[in-house]
Amino acid sequence: MHSRRIGDVEVSAVGLGGMPMSIEGRPDEEQSVRTIHAALDAGITLIDTADSYHLYAGEVGHNETLVARALASYGGDTSAVLVATKGGHVRPGDGSWTVNGSPSHLFEACEASLKRLGVDAIGLYQFHRPDPHVPYADSIGAIRDLLDAGKIRMAGISNANPEQILLAREILSGRLVSVQNQFSPSFLSSAPELALCDSLGIAFLPWAPLGGGRRASDLGDGFATVGARYGVSPQRVCLAWHLAKSPVVIPIPGARRPSTILDSTHAPELSLSADDLALLP
Ligand SMILES: NC(=O)c1ccc[n+]([C@@H]2O[C@H](COP(=O)([O-])OP(=O)(O)OC[C@H]3O[C@@H](n4cnc5c(N)ncnc54)[C@H](OP(=O)(O)O)[C@@H]3O)[C@@H](O)[C@H]2O)c1
Repeated sequence: MHSRRIGDVEVSAVGLGGMPMSIEGRPDEEQSVRTIHAALDAGITLIDTADSYHLYAGEVGHNETLVARALASYGGDTSAVLVATKGGHVRPGDGSWTVNGSPSHLFEACEASLKRLGVDAIGLYQFHRPDPHVPYADSIGAIRDLLDAGKIRMAGISNANPEQILLAREILSGRLVSVQNQFSPSFLSSAPELALCDSLGIAFLPWAPLGGGRRASDLGDGFATVGARYGVSPQRVCLAWHLAKSPVVIPIPGARRPSTILDSTHAPELSLSADDLALLP
């Protein structure tokens, strides 16, 4: 598996997004564990999760617990796996998603994530989403405090605009290593953030890289045409398209089945030509 960097850590060029294994439509735990093990077998060393990837109120951190269990039951060496989690989003259990970016919540959330993941320090902790009721600098100040206290090894942000990226970088004294924003063929609006990350050498993790949920099954004619040229899936072409945007890009496709994540792990081997790229967004 080709690799890319998040801060000073080398990770697989394609990661695994854990969300679909813990929210609406999730599979049983046995299938999820097989999916995570398949990703590890294929050389994936980046797993993206969050404390808010759960369904019901009483199971905050469902996905973190799942990832920790899958790592513990994996037969091979998992020391090189970077588990990236997030705090700042909350799911009350009625299907909605709300935010809480207060420093006190982030400190508590981080402690709970540490316990669920069973680690002394979280590899990459990302502030999930700006909270309109809390100054952004206060939320990022909490992330800085967690870094300084050694609770987290690296700091990232998610759903941030260029101004917020620059502010976070300043508050973290240059220690901002990643930005995770929505970006896919059907959602190109994060292009300015991607360009900024490219210019600053900050890892950019496109979320819902295939468009998310049902959209992931139909990426349109361009991806189908290029896929047919190489005899590969349009989804694999899409992930290769992401990787071709910049060396800082590390897509994190979600999966509920071993077969889909296995297919995605081959994307870095696909080198798209100028002719191919001309057919794509
Ligand atoms: N920071 C944020 O606010 C935020 C928000 C949303 C998501 N995320 C993160 O981003 C990750 C990815 O987003 P997402 O899961 O919503 O959407 P996505 O990655 O665009 O799509 C996931 C779906 O694509 C299918 N798929 C994956 N690889 C495939 C392949 N090679 N061929 C065919 N189908 C394939 C999967 O099918 P199967 O399920 O059948 O395997 C899965 O249901 C999430 O898991 C989460 O970690 C972050």
